[in-house]
Amino acid sequence: MTRFIRPEHLPAWHQLHELAQQGQAPLRELLEDKQRHAKLQFNAAGLSLDASHQRVDADVMQALHGLAQESGVMAHAQAMFRGEAINSTEQRAVLHVALRGSEQAEPPWGQEISTAVSTELNRYCSFAEQLRGGDCKGFGAERITDVVNLGIGGSDLGPRMATEALSHLDAVWTQPLVRLHYVSNVDAWSLATTLAPLQASRTLFVVQSKSFTTQETMTLFASARRWLLDAGCPQADLHLHLAAVTAKPALAQSQGISSERCFRVWDWVGGRYSVWSAIGLPLTVAIGREAYLQMLQGAHAMDKHFLQAPAADNMPLTLALLGVWNRNFLGASTHHVAPYHSALGKLVAFLQQQDMESNGKRVHTDGSDCKVATAPVLWGGLGNDGQHAYFQLIHQGSQTVPVDFIGVRHGHAGLPLAAEHQRVVLLHMQAQAKALALGRPPEETLAALLAEGLSLSEAKRLTPHRSFPGNIPSSTLWMDSLTPYNLGALIALYEHKVFCQAAIWGINAFDQWGVELGKAMALEIESRAG
Ligand code: F6P
Repeated sequence: MTRFIRPEHLPAWHQLHELAQQGQAPLRELLEDKQRHAKLQFNAAGLSLDASHQRVDADVMQALHGLAQESGVMAHAQAMFRGEAINSTEQRAVLHVALRGSEQAEPPWGQEISTAVSTELNRYCSFAEQLRGGDCKGFGAERITDVVNLGIGGSDLGPRMATEALSHLDAVWTQPLVRLHYVSNVDAWSLATTLAPLQASRTLFVVQSKSFTTQETMTLFASARRWLLDAGCPQADLHLHLAAVTAKPALAQSQGISSERCFRVWDWVGGRYSVWSAIGLPLTVAIGREAYLQMLQGAHAMDKHFLQAPAADNMPLTLALLGVWNRNFLGASTHHVAPYHSALGKLVAFLQQQDMESNGKRVHTDGSDCKVATAPVLWGGLGNDGQHAYFQLIHQGSQTVPVDFIGVRHGHAGLPLAAEHQRVVLLHMQAQAKALALGRPPEETLAALLAEGLSLSEAKRLTPHRSFPGNIPSSTLWMDSLTPYNLGALIALYEHKVFCQAAIWGINAFDQWGVELGKAMALEIESRAG
């Protein structure tokens, strides 16, 4: 095990600090270089990344790659793929990558894990296809038509986000063989409103909980059981309406889940990295086995790119290094993600858990306090809406907010004027990236106001208010269309970005002790309340 070196002690860190002190030419100037666009383009697994609007030049990129080298990022990645216990506080391997499969006869994580993964994949995919095929009957011998997922955090966000993102697929949109519903919040209203239009005899609950102890999920499970019984389901038939995904199968089976409908997620799969495991069951029910396997293939393609691409062409590594530059050297305390496709409405919530539950840490892997900043606050939402809500702060606020724009070149039809809709969506996304980069200096604002016909005094009065500093960094990620493959690649891209940043910051991205104290306090309050 190589000795841990604090990131701020690395030569490249000092070099980057110097470069930040020197400052770089503003984006207005950098973007005049006609070669820049080509130099800062990256392609992988169906995605393309345009990093030309990031505040970097050749010297900065070289120093950032030096930092990656000195931090041993790719050696750490190899260790992850080999199944080493890189989750050091829990002494666990981190092998969500194994869930995407491998065409290697002897994958780095070993054949035994591959066999277990494919066995479980076949189990939950087969169950999903049984449900979709109408082969699962309830207590009234009627086919199951509605599946309600009960889970929270990683037991909800991944499948829920992907179900919405892929809801346009024919397998879902034209003939939803089974309707999917997600309930994560423990407030009764959330479950009550979901269940109100449903028929108990045709409803199945998937109880998703790695620990099978999360109080919110267990409370939802108790109410679901009560709803079934109150609707006339015999106790002996409850199992027809239940399935579970958990790392604790014995616990689930002790609560009425049949072994055939109890699916495994291993402790080397973090909740926020688990959509590729049986936690993806509700998603597979929604979109079908084929589409789900395509999503795994897209993620696997990104895995291969991440491991094999030269550093200079490595998309996840580049995204990570740009984030470190913005966070640690340009002083950005938040990071904004703006998808420009309404089906990606849950992507930001998913990325928030993935990024901030992984890298929202303040202690290095050796137990010492971090002096460098770690994860920024990740926020965002659908870009078109954001322009009319909070982009004001990004354009004219008092802090630099780097933005990831996510564009889908071909929207989905469904309307006679669909092409015009798509043109407007992408026009504004590209205009926002340009406006953030170029801004509008006072002299240009004054001229624009005079050209509008304002008097000189009025134009001078308004110029400070209507000028834009610009030089706000952004990346634009493109995919041709929102396919399962491209969505899988996108999720894996961000997973590996988070991984690389954790390796550079010298923190453990794969534990989440921060949630523990709240749970302990809740138990203490509960026990005192008697
Ligand atoms: O927030 C803590 C956490 O453990 C997440 O990491 C996890 O995804 C969520 O709670 C749900 O945990 P479980 O799947 O064990 O119910």
